[in-house]
Amino acid sequence: MANDKYETHEYDVIVIGAGGAGLRAAIEASAAGVKTALICKSLLGKAHTVMAEGGIAAALRNVYQEDNWKVHFRDTMRGGKMLNNWRMAQLHAQEAPDRVLELEEWGALFDRTKDGRILQRDFGGHRYARLAHVGDRTGLEMIRTLQQHAVHKGIDVYMECNIQRLLKDGDRVCGAFGYWRESGKFVTFKSKATVLATGGVGKAWKFTSNSWEYTGDGTTLAADAGADLIDMEMIQFHPTGMVWPNSVRGILVTEGVRGDGGTLRNSEGERFMFNYITDYFRAETAETEEEADAWYEDKTNNRRTPDLLPRDEVARAINAEVKAGRGSPHGGVLLDIASRRSAEYIARRLPSMHHQFKELADVDITKEPMEVGPTCHYIMGGVRVEADTAATTVPGLYAAGEVAAGLHGANRLGGNSLSDLLVFGRRAGLYAAQYAQDLEGHPSPATDQIEQCAQELLAPFNNDGGENPYSVHMALQDCMQNLVGIIRAESELKKAQTEIASLKERLARVTVEGHRQYNPGWNLALDLQSLLTVAEATTMGALERKESRGGHTREDHPGPDPDKYGKINLVLRRKDGEFSLSAEPLPEMPDDLKELFEEGR
Ligand code: FUM
Repeated sequence: MANDKYETHEYDVIVIGAGGAGLRAAIEASAAGVKTALICKSLLGKAHTVMAEGGIAAALRNVYQEDNWKVHFRDTMRGGKMLNNWRMAQLHAQEAPDRVLELEEWGALFDRTKDGRILQRDFGGHRYARLAHVGDRTGLEMIRTLQQHAVHKGIDVYMECNIQRLLKDGDRVCGAFGYWRESGKFVTFKSKATVLATGGVGKAWKFTSNSWEYTGDGTTLAADAGADLIDMEMIQFHPTGMVWPNSVRGILVTEGVRGDGGTLRNSEGERFMFNYITDYFRAETAETEEEADAWYEDKTNNRRTPDLLPRDEVARAINAEVKAGRGSPHGGVLLDIASRRSAEYIARRLPSMHHQFKELADVDITKEPMEVGPTCHYIMGGVRVEADTAATTVPGLYAAGEVAAGLHGANRLGGNSLSDLLVFGRRAGLYAAQYAQDLEGHPSPATDQIEQCAQELLAPFNNDGGENPYSVHMALQDCMQNLVGIIRAESELKKAQTEIASLKERLARVTVEGHRQYNPGWNLALDLQSLLTVAEATTMGALERKESRGGHTREDHPGPDPDKYGKINLVLRRKDGEFSLSAEPLPEMPDDLKELFEEGR
């Protein structure tokens, strides 16, 4: 029997999170004819999706006829250092073009080629110019379009609602419990199927492109409900975030700047990326400035500039330059587009970057270089899902977008997130709706489950431990930034584990004052539960993976270990609050896809 002491809503499908993946999932579930609700922590439209500024990757072949899904698939796998779930990468590459065209039908206004087709730009790790874009505001246009479409479908939207627990009936998920940020009052959603689309975890690090919402909520909800997490050590540091002024450090500088002609230089004026070309990408990378410049002007030679190597490689290179004392005045490097492109071109192609630097740093990027450095942007690891259906390992629970893992392996290529949201958001909505339609009756959470959640959420008001949630958060961010950052080592990871354990003890003593209405201290105290869960899982994975691959670099294990770690996912399961870790083999790629990686193809 459900406890209806609190406001209660009943749906076939609830979608938690209303960025690109959540909106796309809700649209699909609703189109399948089931009663659907979309629940978001923030205001509708305020999502990290908008931070994918430069474009949506899809082999539309509007700029390069040679492109096709197989090349996109291969780029995605190579960029992910072959740790990707091959089936997800295949579905993603095959379906992305249709999802982009559908978005256009729904009203997205993409930039155009001269003959009126969707224009595509270059991005790191993509063999061909493949990113459909709207200047440097692509994520924003995608959200606007999906939001408008969802609202017209009549989907119920619940905003400023923090979901804190998933509810279970036996082994299945049957809804969610949370509170309204405005009133602090509790609310229950009963559902036949639940889709997690809560995004990432960036707020566990000090310098991040993520805003306040990204605290690993979905990852934690899933783990607590018994779902598997995989490869949580795979964190993406986007090479180019703002580094100055300090108050805006971490804000994204789109890869579109380099895609449109921007180059990276150190304090000595050197285009240092030529010194960091790995054997893996040597054949398709220009080795001299002349060759790279020729590629920018006339794409026929197809040896791309090393400024557009995959993100993990560029971020490590910038990190190394700064460490070697060749950094910019505020601890980054210089990104220059003004020397190559006209002011008119920059203002037209990169209007947000132009505005952002002028307003925040008083830098005119049509005349001067930008100072940039790595910023925590994305997590490749997360909730394990079945490739075709987006089902997690718990019945009734689905996941899509950044909260789900597998597609991107050890490193995501820029632009592949927006296509991921569309392809797997749609699939999650479709299969969640089917699950709900097939289910007889409405599962219901036990009364004591809800009451226990309510008591746990109120605990910070009843504590007299005196800990301040903001101090705990700052200590966590310092710990993750300094000890679980771009370059890792066993001694530092062990130190991080000790620190996280002590922060968990401090969290148990966090005390919140005042009432429940719009109480930021209380909100943060609850977010800290997820942030610390993510920190613990990431650090555990990082200690266990004794190799360097993609978004996980170990100074003490500098190379990849293809025979051991290249063949496994690290799986984390949580029981009674404790994680256990195991290694499980990656799904085996079929021979016809393996052939795509043979030399010369
Ligand atoms: O640099 C960017 O515009 C970000 C894109 C992405 O993360 O996909």
